[in-house]
Amino acid sequence: MVINDLDALVASAEGAFAAAATPAELENAKARFLGKAGAVTEAMKGLAALPVEQKKSRGAAINQAKQRIEAALQARRDALARAELQAQLRAEALDVTLPGRKRGSGGLHPVSRTMMRIEAIFRSMGFDVADGPEIETDWYSFTALNNPENHPARSMQDTFYVDLKDAEGRWLNLRPHTSPMQVRYAQAHASRHGTGAEMPEIRVIAPGRTYRVDSDATHSPMFHQCEGLWIGENVSFKDLKFVFSDFLRRFFETDDLEVRFRPSYFPFTEPSAEIDIAFGHGPLQGRWLEVAGSGQVHPNVVRNYGLDPQTHIGFAFGMGPDRLTMLRYGVGDLRQFFDGDLRFLSQFR
Ligand code: DAH
Repeated sequence: MVINDLDALVASAEGAFAAAATPAELENAKARFLGKAGAVTEAMKGLAALPVEQKKSRGAAINQAKQRIEAALQARRDALARAELQAQLRAEALDVTLPGRKRGSGGLHPVSRTMMRIEAIFRSMGFDVADGPEIETDWYSFTALNNPENHPARSMQDTFYVDLKDAEGRWLNLRPHTSPMQVRYAQAHASRHGTGAEMPEIRVIAPGRTYRVDSDATHSPMFHQCEGLWIGENVSFKDLKFVFSDFLRRFFETDDLEVRFRPSYFPFTEPSAEIDIAFGHGPLQGRWLEVAGSGQVHPNVVRNYGLDPQTHIGFAFGMGPDRLTMLRYGVGDLRQFFDGDLRFLSQFR
């Protein structure tokens, strides 16, 4: 190889590197020029045969050519790496101008909101909050509440029965009201604290689901009730009036509200009263609306608590949180609460 061939060698290497489309192809091309058996190595070997005075200049020229080839190789490596990066960036590109996907946000059911308000208000008045079974025995649902067998008052409630019997051979029922919780809670309270003078007052509400064979705009087979009970040595109807009126004004967030106790009948209370309210404003202004039943607990029921009606007296009430929710939000059909239609429910979020 003569000196002039070295320019051609560099040009040929540059051409081969440029033609390499991938890093692997480039490394193959590199081997042909710079590898152990490559063209540059071959040229070096040729030095041995030259006379001493030519060796020096020829060697320098080969080295220079080698450096140019190495530079061309590096430039091509860089170019291929840049191209690869660009391709990767293009492939993984994020379009930050796309509109985001909305996460749906849940919300509390309107009746749950009512339950929470009822609990908060009664807790602030020193009431405990209790929970109990929805499948009840005949005794707790009726007999213990002074509702004797075969008494016509039993049919005030169109009860659902369960295809199972209790230890006394009576059908279990889906509780038609939360009133069994009066008895369950009072019994538990008495067994925990004793029944003498040392027993602290019973002050409790028991919210929960209740069931009756009933369905129209203001009734659903599953509905809610919240029972209340306050038993002590000297708890009177006056206290019931104060507590319940105060609750209603706080619940509806208005003092512009009349509360009326209308004589009524329940087997478990004597005297008994229906509690009605009338708003002094708004679309229902002046109309009496029934919101709860109440009364002084009947002595027979106090005995079923395991307490002495001579020393323990008080009152009970039972209200309908679904009804309160309808009034608070102006909803006309109670069944909408339980249809599961999100267009309706999401309005309360
Ligand atoms: N349990 C009654 C019902 O479902 C409501 C009720 C009335 C509860 C009077 C009471 C009460 O505690 O004293 O219709």
